[in-house]
Amino acid sequence: MKTFSPATSSVLMAAIFAISAASITGCSNEHDIKAVDRVEEAAAIARVQGLEARADQLKNDMPTATEVTAAGADSVAGAKPTIQMPDESTIPDDEYGAAVRRGLQIATHTYKELPDNVGNQLNCTSCHLANGAEAFAAPWNGMPGIYPIYRTRAGRINTIQERINGCFERSMNGKALDLGSDDMNAMVSYMAWLSKDLPYGVSPEGRGFVKVDKTLEPDTTNGEKLFAEKCSVCHGEKGEGQYNDDGTYVFPAVAGDKSFNDGAGMARTYTAAAFIKGKMPFGQGNSLSDQEAVDIAGYFTHLPRPVKANKDKDWPNGDAPKDVRR
Ligand code: HEC
Ligand code: HEC
Repeated sequence: MKTFSPATSSVLMAAIFAISAASITGCSNEHDIKAVDRVEEAAAIARVQGLEARADQLKNDMPTATEVTAAGADSVAGAKPTIQMPDESTIPDDEYGAAVRRGLQIATHTYKELPDNVGNQLNCTSCHLANGAEAFAAPWNGMPGIYPIYRTRAGRINTIQERINGCFERSMNGKALDLGSDDMNAMVSYMAWLSKDLPYGVSPEGRGFVKVDKTLEPDTTNGEKLFAEKCSVCHGEKGEGQYNDDGTYVFPAVAGDKSFNDGAGMARTYTAAAFIKGKMPFGQGNSLSDQEAVDIAGYFTHLPRPVKANKDKDWPNGDAPKDVRR
C-alpha cells in the first residue's frame, strides 16, 4: 500500500500556515483578499494533488494491462483479471510466509497432512488443479476478497473458512477444521497470497469451471462406454484410482470409498460435466462435447461412493438445482 506523498502534506501545511498567517497579521482588506486567495489557491492545489495521489494509489493497486484480458464481447464493462500462481520467491520470509507455505503443503498433500480431517484419499489439488491456481479448475485466486457470500446450498452467508470446510466435509468426505486453527489460517493465508496481485472482490477470469449445457439429459450407457475408452486407463475400470505403496495416489479415485461423497459438488452431474469438459482427459481439456461430458459425468458420479449424512438439510429454501443428490 502506498501512502500519500509528503509533497501533498506539505501543500496542506502551507495552506494551514497561510490561514493562520492571515488571521494573525490583521492587514487591510486589500491584503486580506490576497491572503484569502492564496489560501484558496493552496487548498485547491492540495485538493488536486490529493486526488492525484489517490488516483496513483488506485492505479498501483490495479493489475497492469498485461494482467488483464477482455472477458469477451458480452462483458464490455468489466475486463476480468486473469490468474496465475505468483512466483514462490515472493512468499515473504516471516510468520505470514510460513503460513502460506503450510497452506500450500496442506492443499497438495491433504490426505497425508490431515488424516483426522480427510476421509478419502484425495488432496484439495485433485480437483483444484495446479496448486489451486488453474483457470476453470475452480481456482482459489481472489477468493479471500470474494467471500463472505450468500450460498443457496447453505441458505446463509458463508465465510471463506466455511466454504473450505464445505469441501472438507464433502469433497474430502472428512471433518471440518476448527475455524480458527493454525491449519485453517494457513489455507486462508495461501489463498490470500495467491490473490496478492488481484483487485479485491472481483471474480477473476476462469473462476469455477467452463460452462456446460444443463438442459442435456445424461445417457449413462453411452457414459459407461466413453468412461472405459477415455478415463479408466488412469482412474481405473471402476473409477477406483491407482496408488503408491504409501497410500498416496498416482491417479485419484473418481468413485468408491477413496473418492468424494454424494453430497459433494463433484457428485452433481452438471458440475462434474463442467469440470471434465474443461480439464479431462488430463491434458486434453475441451476435447469432449457437452453431451459426452454430461453422459460420462452422469455415469461416474452415480457409481458407488461414500454417503453424506444430513443432505436433506442442504438448500433449506427449496431452491436445489435438479442434479442435487438426496
Ligand atoms: C472432488 C473435488 C474437490 C476437492 C477434492 C476439493 N474441492 Fe473445493 N470445490 C470443488 C467444487 C466442485 C467446487 C465448486 C465450484 C463451483 O462452484 O463452480 C469447489 C469450490 C471450492 C471453493 C470455492 C470456489 C469459488 O469459486 O467460490 C473453495 C475455496 C474450495 N473449493 C476449497 C477447497 C479446499 C481447501 C479443498 C481441500 C480441503 C477442496 N476445495 C477440495 C471440488 C473439490
Ligand atoms: C492421463 C490420465 C488421466 C485421464 C485419461 C483422465 N484423468 Fe481425470 N485426473 C487425472 C489427474 C492427473 C487428475 C488430477 C490429480 C492431481 O493433479 O492431483 C485427475 C482428476 C480428475 C478428477 C478430480 C479428482 C477426483 O478424483 O475426483 C475427476 C473427477 C476426473 N479426473 C475425471 C476424469 C474423467 C471423467 C476422465 C475421462 C473423460 C478422466 N478423468 C481422464 C488423470 C487422468
